[in-house]
Amino acid sequence: MKETFSIAVSGKGGTGKTTIASLLVRTYIGWGRKPVLAVDADPNANFHEAMGVTVRETLGSMREEAFTKSIPPGMSRKEYIRLRFRQVLVESEGFDLMAMGRPEGTGCYCFANDLLTEAMRALERSYPVIIIDNEAGMEHISRGTIGIPDALLIVTDAGARGRRTASRIRDIGLSLGVPAERMHLIINRVKDHQIPPGNDNWLPLAVIPEDPAVASADLTGAPVSMIPDQSPARVAVQHLAGALDRILL
Ligand SMILES: Nc1ncnc2c1ncn2[C@@H]1O[C@H](COP(=O)(O)OP(=O)(O)OP(=O)(O)O)[C@@H](O)[C@H]1O
Ligand SMILES: [Mg+2]
Repeated sequence: MKETFSIAVSGKGGTGKTTIASLLVRTYIGWGRKPVLAVDADPNANFHEAMGVTVRETLGSMREEAFTKSIPPGMSRKEYIRLRFRQVLVESEGFDLMAMGRPEGTGCYCFANDLLTEAMRALERSYPVIIIDNEAGMEHISRGTIGIPDALLIVTDAGARGRRTASRIRDIGLSLGVPAERMHLIINRVKDHQIPPGNDNWLPLAVIPEDPAVASADLTGAPVSMIPDQSPARVAVQHLAGALDRILL
């Protein structure tokens, strides 16, 4: 059995990446596959809100700081960066969260990036499941700050335009070296089981219904990961996690 696997969630803006990523984290915690590492790789980060935790800094902002400020006496910059890396990690009940921030600052941070990449790889090895909330361009994958995921979920609505965009994102994935068989289509916010046939033969791995509990969490600002157990989106994401287990384990 594979010891660690990573699932990245991508898709165009507003399709439900963060919602699905946070419900996946909740599912794996519920199944005892913890601690889960939640990685926010979207520069407009809000994975932490969906998980109900506060983020003080990102890896990107820490990198800027660690390279411009003076470091404590008796410590090398390398040691300092390793120490600061652990401090960026937010620890919570059943999961830890790492916010990546912007992939690169204005200066040259090759040394820092290499160190952070190395620290990220080492960190990843200590979690059974890693869930990454990614933006559509997947810049952190292209820059190597996060590795090629074991599964890349591409989220879309049921519309033809959205599904064409999903296919383009799959092409970006291919160009970054993500094998086709690791990419899975997820159709979100489906009303009344209405899924129009797609314009290609890429069948969805999961269909997630429009869920009033998700909308109401959004309205009240409650963490979406905490919607009730029987909520349709939560149940659908559990089925998705089951399907991913069959593929990945
Ligand atoms: N299954 C669902 N049922 C009802 N509302 C949903 C569902 N999935 C997502 N939403 C709503 O759609 C909006 C966008 O969702 P979310 O923030 O998860 O998308 P995103 O792809 O992460 O967006 P961004 O690109 O801004 O990061 C939110 O208001 C969310 O509440
Ligand atoms: Mg999001």
